[in-house]
Amino acid sequence: METEKIIEDSKKFLMPTYSRIPIVIDHGKGVRVWDKDGKVYLDFISGIGVMALGYSHPEICEVINQQSCKLIHCSNLYHIENQLKLARKLCELSFADRVFFCNSGAEANEAAIKLARKFGNKKGAYEIIAMENSFHGRTLATLGLTGQEKYRGGFGPFPPEFKFVPFNNFKALENSINSKTCAVIIEPIQGEGGIYEASFDFLRKTREICTRENILLIFDEVQCGLGRTGKWFTYQHYDVKPDIMTLAKPLASGLPIGATLARENIAKIFSPGDHASTFGGGSLICLVALKFLEIMERENLVEKAAKMGEYFKEKLNSLKQKYPFIKEIRGKGLMLGVELTLDGKPILDKARERGLLINVTRRRVLRFLPPLIVTESDIDEAICILDGILEKV
Ligand SMILES: Cc1ncc(COP(=O)(O)O)c(C=O)c1O
Repeated sequence: METEKIIEDSKKFLMPTYSRIPIVIDHGKGVRVWDKDGKVYLDFISGIGVMALGYSHPEICEVINQQSCKLIHCSNLYHIENQLKLARKLCELSFADRVFFCNSGAEANEAAIKLARKFGNKKGAYEIIAMENSFHGRTLATLGLTGQEKYRGGFGPFPPEFKFVPFNNFKALENSINSKTCAVIIEPIQGEGGIYEASFDFLRKTREICTRENILLIFDEVQCGLGRTGKWFTYQHYDVKPDIMTLAKPLASGLPIGATLARENIAKIFSPGDHASTFGGGSLICLVALKFLEIMERENLVEKAAKMGEYFKEKLNSLKQKYPFIKEIRGKGLMLGVELTLDGKPILDKARERGLLINVTRRRVLRFLPPLIVTESDIDEAICILDGILEKV
């Protein structure tokens, strides 16, 4: 089908939930994708952080091919060896003792919310405090904890037991905690909100008060977890461990997965029948996720994300020196944001014309989430394209 026809018919047959960029991606290899018309793009958003190993990684393709002929799915009615292996590996890498698997970031947060609610149930605590400017997903509960009107508008009312405080404002958090609070949920780096990092002081004090008041601390690492910020998990930069952590995006290299990780004393609050997911933790997906973690470890991609992130940030900072409309560069590792004093959309469009895919959040923040396999020369190429665009602004 021709590009125009696909775009035209998509507008007719698909619910209009996305304002899509008018290209049709046909295939990808490494850090590059090709559209239906054969144009090649350097992909610095990588499926919003999903394609951390880049496209068509041969080992990922091989695992999918082989396991798909053996067992794709069998349901959680039975024991699933690959699910167990993946849970064990994630526990080894993190603070956690147990894992629940589902299919997306929002679902991982739903499980975290239910776990927190059941935890609080015994003492009559049910309020959850989230941060302003946060993003936790599009299901009704996760939207209820998302602190941005842009996403919430038209879908209320939301549970009044979900409260908001300004991000990084410990006093405000302390003031809103009461005997009904069961959990606090935080993205250690806000992604959709425009790449804002939690302050060390805020996370440390939040951990202290949660421990003291017997409140669960949930870290949503759906976007910032799994190596993206130059550590396996962003909480490790802060040396502040949560009680529950949620993961998703890159874990199964493009196949749908979500994971909710918790310490033993929290995880065991769930009993059989409390929560479930038909597709969650399937044999194929879990084997792909195990392969993803194996490649990440073998290729030192976490350390490389830190190193490449430094390099990229340095280059972005040199653009900032040159262009007064660049207000701030934020983020860690390969999760970077460039805040402009002007609208980012025209820059995104020009970047695409010149063969670079990026993304804009909060209208003025250029967001970069390149694959973790990105090289210095890919970064130089992206910077050169951006420079060429910015000098004409
Ligand atoms: C921090 C965070 N939490 C949750 C989600 C929701 O994940 P999903 O779209 O897989 O449901 C996202 C998605 O961007 C996210 O960035």
